[in-house]
Amino acid sequence: MAKLVKDGWATRFGLIMAMAGNAVGLGNFLRFPGQAMPYGGAFMIPYFLALVLLGVPLMWMEWTIGRHGGGFGHGTAPGMFHRLWRHPISKYLGIFGVLLPAMVGVYYVYIESWALGYAWQTLTGTYWGQESYDEMKSLFGTYTGTKGANLVSFSSQAYTFFLITFVINIVVFARGISRGIEVVAKYCMPLLFVLGTILAVRVITLPPMEDRTIGQGLAQIWRVTDWGVLAKPNVWIAATGQIFFTLSVGLGMVHTYASYLKKKEDITLSSLAAGGTNEFVEVILGGTIAIPAAVLFFGVVQARDIVNTDGTFAIGFFALPCIFQQMPGGQFFGTLWFVLLFLAGLTSSMAMFTPLLVFIEDELRVDRRIGVILIGFGVFLMMQPVILFNHYNVLDEIDYWMGTFGLVLFVAIESVLFAWIFGMKKGWEEMHLGADLRVPRIFYYIMKFVTPTFAVGLVVWFAYDGLIDKLTMTGVKPEAVPYLWVGRVMILMMAAFIIWGVWYAWQTHPRFFDEVEREEETTP
Ligand code: ALA
Repeated sequence: MAKLVKDGWATRFGLIMAMAGNAVGLGNFLRFPGQAMPYGGAFMIPYFLALVLLGVPLMWMEWTIGRHGGGFGHGTAPGMFHRLWRHPISKYLGIFGVLLPAMVGVYYVYIESWALGYAWQTLTGTYWGQESYDEMKSLFGTYTGTKGANLVSFSSQAYTFFLITFVINIVVFARGISRGIEVVAKYCMPLLFVLGTILAVRVITLPPMEDRTIGQGLAQIWRVTDWGVLAKPNVWIAATGQIFFTLSVGLGMVHTYASYLKKKEDITLSSLAAGGTNEFVEVILGGTIAIPAAVLFFGVVQARDIVNTDGTFAIGFFALPCIFQQMPGGQFFGTLWFVLLFLAGLTSSMAMFTPLLVFIEDELRVDRRIGVILIGFGVFLMMQPVILFNHYNVLDEIDYWMGTFGLVLFVAIESVLFAWIFGMKKGWEEMHLGADLRVPRIFYYIMKFVTPTFAVGLVVWFAYDGLIDKLTMTGVKPEAVPYLWVGRVMILMMAAFIIWGVWYAWQTHPRFFDEVEREEETTP
């Protein structure tokens, strides 16, 4: 059974760039420095371990689940899980693969729009002259409308850039896989490498400041100064969470992209190429720009304080703009930085609504144009509370449930399903169909035992550490509670729609779910 909607990757280069673009995102340039900074070089040990033991195996699993499900005409996790496990519950477990990316997209696009807005402000020198960290922090509050916000956090400037970003995203994803996503990735990813390389070279050639050198900044991620950090569970959780988020595993987006692969199109090597590209961008380019620059200008202690006090966006949006103002040609390099962030964001966000669109097309049999309009309206509405109640942290609330806990839960479900229910033996064979690289046998055992055990262990850890407090909103200011509930209700509404969609699809065309695999017609 071929996919209902004929689309697919035009070239292997396009596929790898799109998959790499799906992974390379704001996570590489904003989240990574935010996670690594507080721990120093010790962070990189759990980070690389999580990459090898969890990240890479999960990538292989998701590409395999996606291509396998795609062979039966399913572009999203509900249908794919049904093909892995013929149990009435399996398709409902798959709803996360549609829900999570769409809801992450709801706030991700807004953050991406800040990058575009800041690129413009830097290019036009709007904030030039406000050189201190506190001034830049305050400017960010004014830009997002959170500073002094009363009823709503609104700024016409931020809203304008949000609208532009939103329209760009909808236009790209409406054009589909080969004409939209692949084309944008093919041009944006190489451009992103060029921008990242220029910025990295600029940062490593910066002259010493006071008694600090750029080498000390680089040592922040490359030298372990405090081994004791490794005894803290939080560093392990942070590193693992970062690996998941940055590779876009546990979000359902990889599944959908992979569903467009042909039956015997390589998985093992292509996924490594895409994942390796992401790691290069994150660790080499990302790690050479934000952290070393912040350490050089502010010193280790203050740079860490910045992250600990002001969170993930502090380095990218507060600290770096001060730094650019103090370096020769700063306006040029500052603009490059925010354009880089925007491009990274775009190549990920255009993947985020794709599972929902494909779900509506494949399972609900709705025409693509109507699907785009429905999603456009739906997510636009959901974005409003994220923007307008940003001062009550609606964005963080959705991020916790979808982009942090939800992602870990989905990873646990899929790894158990793949390795234990579908079976590792079948999974391994399926993964190697048409493979250009034979994966070392040790990964068979890692994927069977280590990955699912760690993933389930993480869910248990979350349940033990903070989940209940989060659920009961312990410590939340009373006035914020109703607004956080708005965020939760949106998640529940989206979940209810997808659950209904699954039920409806299986009621209306049950035979589709029993049909045999697609013919070899799509095999080269
Ligand atoms: N992987 C994407 C990122 O890093 C979601 O932002």
